Amino acid sequence: MRPIRIALTKGRLEKSAVELFERMGLDCTELKNKGRRLILPVGEYEMVLAKANDVLTYVEHGVCDIGFVGKDTIAEKGGNFYEMLDLGFGRCRFAVAGPDGCDIFTGHREMTVATKYPNIASQYFESRGMDVRLIKIEGSVELAPLLGLADAIVDIVETGQTLKENGLSVIEEIMPISARTIVNVASLKTRKNEIQKFTNGIIKALSL
Ligand code: PRP
Repeated sequence: MRPIRIALTKGRLEKSAVELFERMGLDCTELKNKGRRLILPVGEYEMVLAKANDVLTYVEHGVCDIGFVGKDTIAEKGGNFYEMLDLGFGRCRFAVAGPDGCDIFTGHREMTVATKYPNIASQYFESRGMDVRLIKIEGSVELAPLLGLADAIVDIVETGQTLKENGLSVIEEIMPISARTIVNVASLKTRKNEIQKFTNGIIKALSL
């Protein structure tokens, strides 16, 4: 049988995940010297480096048993898997933001909002009873109001630095975000002991 395969979101979450694996006593030498390789052994496990949306896809389809991914991606994309643990790192929040001093809640004009997260944004504005026109942007969403494409954005805010340096500020916070583990539905049945061993290792390492 193949080793338990873990899909890890590349980028922001990587460093904290490696620290966690080391605290769990797993050998991360290969992962830390990965070069351009995408599948690496970490202790007895196989680590797969992928983009956040693809972590969900690989876990949902069962080619990876476990995934490390932000709640932002889970909330936006959803899917058929179990969300198991809140890892407590990768903390940030979804927020509506706009040019300093702007007010999107009064006035009758239809707002244009740019976002990488159209589902989160439309749920939020629906809950506020607001009709907005959403424009999907793939990254650096802060550009859209600066260029005059949108009145506001719905995006992730971590330190707030990107907003600040571009003359934007938070209008309202939508929800907190942190890194989560997700597990394939079938794997949790067929490889229950191995998955439990791994998640117990996480719980123990997190409470050190
Ligand atoms: C995210 C987000 C903001 C920035 C916020 O972008 O979209 O642009 O981080 O971080 P801060 O509050 O600490 O400044 P990311 O770096 O993930 O890249 P992206 O814009 O390509 O999505």
